[in-house]
Amino acid sequence: MLLQRTAFVTGAAQGLGKAFSEALLEKGARVCLTDIQTQKGLLLESELQKKYGKDKCMFMQCDVSSATNLRKSFNAAVSQFGHIDLVVNNAGIGDESNMEKMININLMGAIAGSALGVEHMRKDKGGKGGVVINVASTAGLIPVYLIPSYCATKFGLVGYHRSCASNPHLKEMGVQFGCLCPAFTDTDILKDVLKVEYPEEVKGIIQQVGINPVERVVQGFLQLVESPNCNGDIVTVSAQDGIQYQKKGSNKWSSHL
Ligand SMILES: NC(=O)c1ccc[n+]([C@@H]2O[C@H](COP(=O)([O-])OP(=O)(O)OC[C@H]3O[C@@H](n4cnc5c(N)ncnc54)[C@H](O)[C@@H]3O)[C@@H](O)[C@H]2O)c1
Repeated sequence: MLLQRTAFVTGAAQGLGKAFSEALLEKGARVCLTDIQTQKGLLLESELQKKYGKDKCMFMQCDVSSATNLRKSFNAAVSQFGHIDLVVNNAGIGDESNMEKMININLMGAIAGSALGVEHMRKDKGGKGGVVINVASTAGLIPVYLIPSYCATKFGLVGYHRSCASNPHLKEMGVQFGCLCPAFTDTDILKDVLKVEYPEEVKGIIQQVGINPVERVVQGFLQLVESPNCNGDIVTVSAQDGIQYQKKGSNKWSSHL
């Protein structure tokens, strides 16, 4: 099925953001890839433009921890594509030694990206409607004593998602909020997670729960994006339990959206 969306994806130069962007392009969407890593982002832009067409994707340097920088990149994406109707707040780090930076990227960056998306997309203020996907983590649902600050950012993001999704005015805004919560996944961020005080204990947990292949997380992401009504949904993806869904307002998890 063709996905007629125009997406703004943060942290898209590598890892999950790159994989989400490629999956969206593969489905026919247009994507503005953004990342703090300019060189990597530009290389990816050139590779993806060759594969999908110049008009289908662009790269913008963007540091999500700077509200000014984020707004500038978002506005540039709107100018280039005409509009955005899918915002994917994916950029994140796992650096327990730098709490402030991590809060600014993982939480503040995602909140600022969500707010920009809503401001632009809301139908009651002239926008075309759309979806905001926040990439949190299972560490935003289950406490992990080894990475408490990372957990705080992701619990915060899940709380933000749930609060935004319960806004009764969302219907007239034509905006939906979905949340993706992967468990350990095979990307570079895992190296950061091992730089904690008890790395052997982290390794033990990883061994116990396993590591998701990136493709499985992409599958969960696409199911959320392609759902006609994902508002308030949380999708978890883990090596142990696969893809699980929690619908808005429900405490139950199921294997169907
Ligand atoms: N891989 C996992 O095990 C896992 C599990 C749960 C959730 N997540 C979440 O998935 C998201 C993507 O992470 P990943 O696994 O692909 O890791 P990754 O390290 O491969 O990718 C993260 C990307 O974010 C970018 N980034 C970092 N700081 C930035 C900033 N200030 N502004 C813009 N971009 C910035 C990096 O340059 C990088 O491209 C993160 O939010 C992460 O917390 C990952």
